[in-house]
Formats: sequence, C-alpha cells, structure tokens
Amino acid sequence: MTAPPVLALPGVTPALAEALAAAMARVDRLLVETVDHADPFIAEASGHLLAAGGKRFRPTLTILAALACGEVTDEVIAAAVGVELTHLASLYHDDVMDEALVRRAVPSVNAAYDNSTAILVGDLLFGKASELIAGLGPEAVLIQAQTFVRLCEGQIRDTLPCPPDADPIAYYLRVLADKTGVLVATAARYGAMFGGGGPEQVEVLRTYGERLGMAFQLADDLIDIASDGSVSGKTPGTDLREGVDTLAVLYVKASSNPADPADARLLELLDTDLGHDEAGVHEALTLLRAHPALAQAKARTREVGDDALAALSGLPPSDARVALATLVEQVIDRVG
Ligand code: IPE
Ligand code: IPE
Ligand code: MG
Ligand code: MG
Repeated sequence: MTAPPVLALPGVTPALAEALAAAMARVDRLLVETVDHADPFIAEASGHLLAAGGKRFRPTLTILAALACGEVTDEVIAAAVGVELTHLASLYHDDVMDEALVRRAVPSVNAAYDNSTAILVGDLLFGKASELIAGLGPEAVLIQAQTFVRLCEGQIRDTLPCPPDADPIAYYLRVLADKTGVLVATAARYGAMFGGGGPEQVEVLRTYGERLGMAFQLADDLIDIASDGSVSGKTPGTDLREGVDTLAVLYVKASSNPADPADARLLELLDTDLGHDEAGVHEALTLLRAHPALAQAKARTREVGDDALAALSGLPPSDARVALATLVEQVIDRVG
C-alpha cells in the first residue's frame, strides 16, 4: 500500500523521505486496524476501497505539515487517519451520486455491492473517523464537524444547476472549495495543530491546504477530460455523463464561437443529456481536448497552485516546506 509515483516527491532529502515513509506506515497500520470489523461482511465492504490503494494524499499532507512545524506525534497519526477515513467515506457516497462504476481501478462499492451498502458502509466509515477524532479533543471534533458540513454542502451543490443569478465560474469554484478544498485544508491544519505549530503556522497551513485542495480538484476535473482511465483508475468523461460542468466546459460555454462548426457541435453536445450516449461522450471529449478552453482551465489551475505556494512563505524554511512546495507541482501536473 505504498503511494504510487504520481504523488511521490522527487528531491526530498533522504532523512525527510525516511521520516515520511515511517509515519505513512503507521498511518496505514492504523487505517487497516480501524476499518476491520468482527462481522465479515462489514469488514469486507469497509475494506474494499482501502485494499484497492489510493494515493494517501491527505495523510501525506498531515505528516508533512507536522514536520514543517514540529514533529510527528501519536495525535498527528490519529488525525491523518481520521482525515483519510473521512475522504474514503466520501468516495463511497460520491460513487453512488455519480453512478461511477470504477474507483481506484477496481469496481466501485456501489457496483461491487449495491447503493444501500455503499451508503451505509460510507456512514459507518464517517463514524469511525469521528471516533478517532474524538480522542483528539473538542477543538478537533468541531473542526471535523465543520469540515464535514462544508464537504456535504459542496457535494449537494455539485448536483444542482448554478442558480440563474449567480456567476457559473464563481459558483463552480465555491463548490470545489467546499467539496474538496476544506478537507485538504483540515488535513494540513491538523498536522500543524498536533505537530506543535503555533496559531500562525496553523493558519498558514490551513490557507495553503485549502488552495492546494482546490488545485487538486481542478486537476481532477482536467483528468476526467484529458486522461486515460488506465492511468487514473476512473472512467474518463464521468462529469460529462453526469452533466456536471467543470471549468473547461464553463470556459467553452462562456467563450465559444457558434459560427465555428467544431464549437457549434461541442456546444450542441454539451447541451444534450449524455448520460447514456457513449458516442456523444467520446465525441465531446475529443472536441474538448482540442479546444483552447482546456489550456485556459490548466492555466487557472496553475494560478491557484501559485496561490498555495505563496501561502508557504509564512513558514520557516525547512526540508518539509520544500516538500510542501513540491507537492503543489505534483498536484498540478498529475495525470492520475
Ligand atoms: C478523489 O480523491 C476525490 C477528489 C476529491 C478529487 P483522490 O484523488 O485523493 O482519491 P484517492 O484517495 O487517491 O483514490
Ligand atoms: C469528489 O468529486 C469529491 C468528494 C468525494 C467529496 P468528484 O466526483 O469530482 O471526484 P472523482 O473524480 O469521482 O474522484
Ligand atoms: Mg465522482
Ligand atoms: Mg462527484
């Protein structure tokens, strides 16, 4: 269960790499222990996605944040696991709402079992996360609760059309900050809090984390358009099938020239229900990949990444801070 190369961090010092690997091994042990269950069905269903891997991006961030401010304590490990379990549970529910069939290169829980199992086991995993975080004190519990509320708000708005009086791009960026940014922010914030950072460092890492999380989701939405499913472990075009307009699509809608036949065709496809139209999804993906809106969305992702980098100047120089900067580049350039 080691992190795949997509989030391996080139250029980190051997001492930091060793500290990170040791902490992540502790994280993985506690994750496996926490999702285990006396009932074999529950144990199997709640271990399904954990056993399939995942990048462990959020716990990696918690550990690096702790190392940037202080040290990896037992509380840091528990917080890292609490955040990863919250993320894992959100994937169980996300695949139900997105009707996704593949996750972490294996059948999603809704596909391997059914929707009810995915929802209930997802709830159980949220409960396990809360149990762990409760051991970290009332402030940590409050942060976890507020994080979860915002994550759900983002996921709810993700399924709703942008209200007619709202700016679609601002609406989309807000959804992103809520459904993904806040949990990544909490991952970094907990690392600073339980690693021994002062209030200013905690705030620096929270800000960095929220921006990094937004860049992470922007990159994820680009992967849905531009990547091969064999690299991402997910089915490309899921957002198009679900009718979720991500940034590149919003740029197409805002800037396309209907007199250009390729643009006109793409706009027509984007206005169609592609839920059960595989040929339409394929054609829309081909047109989107060639459209300048994709480059525009990539440039915006870079800008958000630069905002995350700027926040890091509030931390004292250290190997861990260098690694946090490298993480931004990895997130922006990732293809899976
Ligand atoms: C997927 O997150 C859901 C998003 C918020 C984009 P990850 O890309 O971190 O998923 P895993 O944990 O590596 O499978
Ligand atoms: C996932 O969003 C966000 C959460 C799980 C909270 P997406 O639906 O865009 O992510 P993927 O592409 O399925 O991982
Ligand atoms: Mg999804
Ligand atoms: Mg979704």
